[in-house]
Amino acid sequence: MISVQHNFDLTAFNTLALKSQCSDYVALTDHHDLEQAIDYARAHQLNIFVLSGGSNLLLPEKFRALTIHILTQGKEILSENDDEVVIKVQAGEIWHDFVCDCCAKGYHGLENLALIPGRVGAAPIQNIGAYGVEAGEFIETIWAYDLKQDQHIEFKAAQCDFGYRDSIFKQQAGRYIIYAVSFKLFKHAQLQLKYADVAQQVGDEATPEKLLQTIIHIRRQKLPQPEHFPNVGSFFKNPVLAAQQFSDLIEHYPRVPHYPQNNDMQKVAAGWLIDQAGWKGKRLGDVGMFERQALVLVNYGQASLQDVQRTYEQIQTDIYQKFAIRLEPEPVLLNESGEISPHVSAC
Ligand code: EPU
Repeated sequence: MISVQHNFDLTAFNTLALKSQCSDYVALTDHHDLEQAIDYARAHQLNIFVLSGGSNLLLPEKFRALTIHILTQGKEILSENDDEVVIKVQAGEIWHDFVCDCCAKGYHGLENLALIPGRVGAAPIQNIGAYGVEAGEFIETIWAYDLKQDQHIEFKAAQCDFGYRDSIFKQQAGRYIIYAVSFKLFKHAQLQLKYADVAQQVGDEATPEKLLQTIIHIRRQKLPQPEHFPNVGSFFKNPVLAAQQFSDLIEHYPRVPHYPQNNDMQKVAAGWLIDQAGWKGKRLGDVGMFERQALVLVNYGQASLQDVQRTYEQIQTDIYQKFAIRLEPEPVLLNESGEISPHVSAC
């Protein structure tokens, strides 16, 4: 049985702490209630906005929609042998707690993704990734409701079109409501140590537990905790440049950190570009880029969505003028009808 609340305040449910209120809100603690919530939205001619951890979101001050806050809990082992285990997890489980719990139980692979904020159901949407690992590599099945075809649907990982901070769930934003995800994990440690500072800090006697603790330590050092400095993690994606554009850039800026991709493309560190453009630790009113990691935008006070937009558009303009590179925001932007909408690009 669902209980709908009206004029519900979401300020505490988005990690950028933008002041926001939605017309209708339901906390979903049992996925069997999902269809009832959908029926409610349709009966009241409301769009549906699915809220998870709120850690990758830009919310308007007021919007008219039914917010379905996915808070479902539960984990079950679907299959297991001497080498692998497949675990099905309800979408509302906290991602970091799930990662730690798996590591403690001897189910490995997700250690590099420790401390990423958010809930499990959001992990596939932008295919969360860090330190050389992406969630999509371990996902086996996704259970979702297709609002377009009005039916439950299961996706195998190969159908999800996982890419860098990308998937079909992001490409077709608003169409699917993910309510459970299964992961295939390994019982024998498989450590991803391709990031030099991770390998160095883990040391010679690397164990999954040590790797997990190292990742937690590195993230705590570099990234602001939302409780103290409201933020949404990396604010821009690292731009991926074609060969010609990259060679023009490196000719002028030989020290730009870059990572080779497929098809001669190169991924460039947006944090470095923003830092070089003088934005590290710089503020425009209540909004600024964090002093220890220029890629993280922080709400230092009572910023509104407009304040955030003004700041990031200024950064986009500065980066374009200096490097001829367009930076694309990573978080999802919601409009006043509760729909995910494209970012307006400043350049
Ligand atoms: N850099 C600077 N100045 C800065 C920030 C970074 O010069 O202020 C340089 C660093 O020295 C480094 C390079 O830029 O050479 C890259 O920085 P870092 O290794 O910190 O990683 P990132 O590219 O900033 C990406 C992800 C993070 C993820 C880390 C580690 C994106 C958009 N971000 O950040 O993901 O944790 O790599 O794998 O891909 C997130 O998506 O919210 C997120 C935190």
